[in-house]
Amino acid sequence: MPRRITSHPVLGKLPQAELVTIYLDGEPLAAREGEPIAAALLAAGRRVLRRSEKLNEPRGVFCAIGRCTDCAMTVDGRPNVRTCVTPVRDGMRIETQRGLGSFPAGVASAASPMGAVVPTGEAARATQRAEVAVVGAGPAGLCAAIEAAKAGAQVMLLDENDRPGGQLVKQIHRFFGTSDHHAGVRGYEIGQRLLDEVRVLGVDVRLPTVVWGAFPGPVLGCATAEGESHALTAERLILATGASELAVAFPGWTLPGVMGAGAAQTLMNLHRVLPGERVLMVGSGNVGLIVAFQLLQAGARIAAVVEVAPQVGGWEVHADRVRRAGVPILTQHTVIEALGKDHVTGAVIGQLDEGGELRPGSERRLRADLICLAVGLRPQTQLAGMLDLEMTHDPRRGGRVPARDERMRSSDERVYVAGDLGAISEASIAMEEGRIAGRAAAAALGYGEDGETERVIEEAGRRIEVLQGDVRGGEGRPRRIMFTGGAARATPVVECYQRIPCDPCEAACPTGAIRVGPDPTALPTVEPARCTGCLRCVWACPGMAIFVVRPGPEPGEATIAIPWEWLPLPKAGTMGRGCDRAGRSVCKARVVRVLPPREAGQTAVVELAVNARHANRVRGFMM
Ligand SMILES: Cc1cc2nc3c(=O)[nH]c(=O)nc-3n(C[C@H](O)[C@H](O)[C@H](O)COP(=O)(O)OP(=O)(O)OC[C@H]3O[C@@H](n4cnc5c(N)ncnc54)[C@H](O)[C@@H]3O)c2cc1C
Ligand code: SF4
Ligand code: SF4
Ligand code: FES
Repeated sequence: MPRRITSHPVLGKLPQAELVTIYLDGEPLAAREGEPIAAALLAAGRRVLRRSEKLNEPRGVFCAIGRCTDCAMTVDGRPNVRTCVTPVRDGMRIETQRGLGSFPAGVASAASPMGAVVPTGEAARATQRAEVAVVGAGPAGLCAAIEAAKAGAQVMLLDENDRPGGQLVKQIHRFFGTSDHHAGVRGYEIGQRLLDEVRVLGVDVRLPTVVWGAFPGPVLGCATAEGESHALTAERLILATGASELAVAFPGWTLPGVMGAGAAQTLMNLHRVLPGERVLMVGSGNVGLIVAFQLLQAGARIAAVVEVAPQVGGWEVHADRVRRAGVPILTQHTVIEALGKDHVTGAVIGQLDEGGELRPGSERRLRADLICLAVGLRPQTQLAGMLDLEMTHDPRRGGRVPARDERMRSSDERVYVAGDLGAISEASIAMEEGRIAGRAAAAALGYGEDGETERVIEEAGRRIEVLQGDVRGGEGRPRRIMFTGGAARATPVVECYQRIPCDPCEAACPTGAIRVGPDPTALPTVEPARCTGCLRCVWACPGMAIFVVRPGPEPGEATIAIPWEWLPLPKAGTMGRGCDRAGRSVCKARVVRVLPPREAGQTAVVELAVNARHANRVRGFMM
């Protein structure tokens, strides 16, 4: 059953909010002022928001960002309001909608994603101007705006959300990377830092503003939340519209309780609503693994992560921390059916053979009230398509994407393309592409000194090369550093065996016991003799992949320092079970020390004492 998340290991306690009363089909419900209608309804346990026209089938939240229309309801008499992006208001009357509904007379088009009506006539013809217009305030758009403004251009930044940051605003995990890329910082904090920079530079930020059309010029059609519409003529346009989630169809996939993993993330981390208690995650790429971990942090249980491929798709460190929580990751498995009448009550999964066919008799039922789909992303190319930009097909970039040169310039020399729209990738790469696009667009208008423009573009290009380096390949799994007892003061055990572009472990270590070197994709190397046991590496590693083992405190015992991002934080003296890398109970364990977060959002460290012979197995703790 969905419910409100009142306390959270990263986000803290649910902030106070004014309560308002909304009416669902006449029944009064309490809601937090400003939250989306659909979040309020889910928090109240109401999952069915709409019924289909022909078969009267139930529909619920699917995307949570205003893209799919599954949450359309009739609000204060107006049908087809996307309730996942429309804030509640005191006294609002919401009705479960059947079918498509119809618009009031005189309204020309559908409601915008935040529920505003797009008017026509004089208001729609009012024109504004910008030297550089940036559509999308995710990491790519924010960095594009920053660099264009730094070069001296007049910049307008538009985004349909009322908060800037794009995907970053719901990323509560700490990012990989180097100090150039905010390594170890949580995604939402990166978004805030970029926004602060944008504000200092005087960028004209327009939120929430939907860009509903793009026409040669380039001219943009924009609509604000107040229902105002205007045209915007830009001398240079940077499209940074990001990507949206893909879905996969199977019997029952339209039931409320089947949703995109990103939707679950939005509900949990932005709106503080847990969309389900027991979850099946479909897909083990980074999105599936990260959202599975975040669901656990928010208090859900994960029945399983299923993956059609023979191996996990995302980084092993992400998979390992999900496994340590006892979650099975079932490769060569898929979801076959979602069970339930009005909402998901279970799922059928099955095993696939080498040819991808279902193994007869392998089907089994799981209890679940939420099925999350993490099966890929698709670039948001609608505006690029309206501008008739030349497109190219590249499966490594996410399919059909706008063609562009090394300065992020599209086939239309006035239009630039940056971030996930140009290639599904990572925030760190999106930021660099944004920097290039921003500088190049400003330079095309004569802003910035040539030397400085080229320096910024070349440096960003070099950083992209490093980030895109041979990250998966490598020299094979290095020998695991083991704790051998004896005279060692402390042994850092670094369970990070892939070439991730990341180095906070090296930056955190004051003695040089852990080194990554100049290539951030190199595997960390460890010199245990240099380790003083300060534990800084344990809380600094965004992959939660470092454990420090040392002798004591009692004879025959060893202690293991583990990163901790759960509630509750145990106290020294707490007794429990030490668990292995698959979350299985290994032995008795006692908490000997707790290093709580020194500031909000920091990882805690918990030090356990166990029988020394289990020191190389225990990696978790169950109270
Ligand atoms: C679960 C998850 C975990 C991730 N973890 C990491 C990680 O650990 N490290 C990492 O580097 N990356 C991570 N990423 C990837 C990263 O978030 C994306 O690569 C990055 O956000 C892409 O940036 P962007 O600016 O191109 O697009 P986005 O961040 O998607 O921003 C695009 C913005 O444009 C807006 N927009 C789109 N169309 C319009 C329109 N017509 N009008 C107005 N506004 C519009 C959107 O609403 C959005 O705000 C993760 C992604 C997900 C989903
Ligand atoms: S415990 Fe301290 S000294 Fe040892 S490897 Fe970690 S950061 Fe370095
Ligand atoms: S061990 Fe180092 S390289 Fe690996 S995830 Fe942790 S901080 Fe990054
Ligand atoms: S539009 Fe609201 S859930 Fe997709």
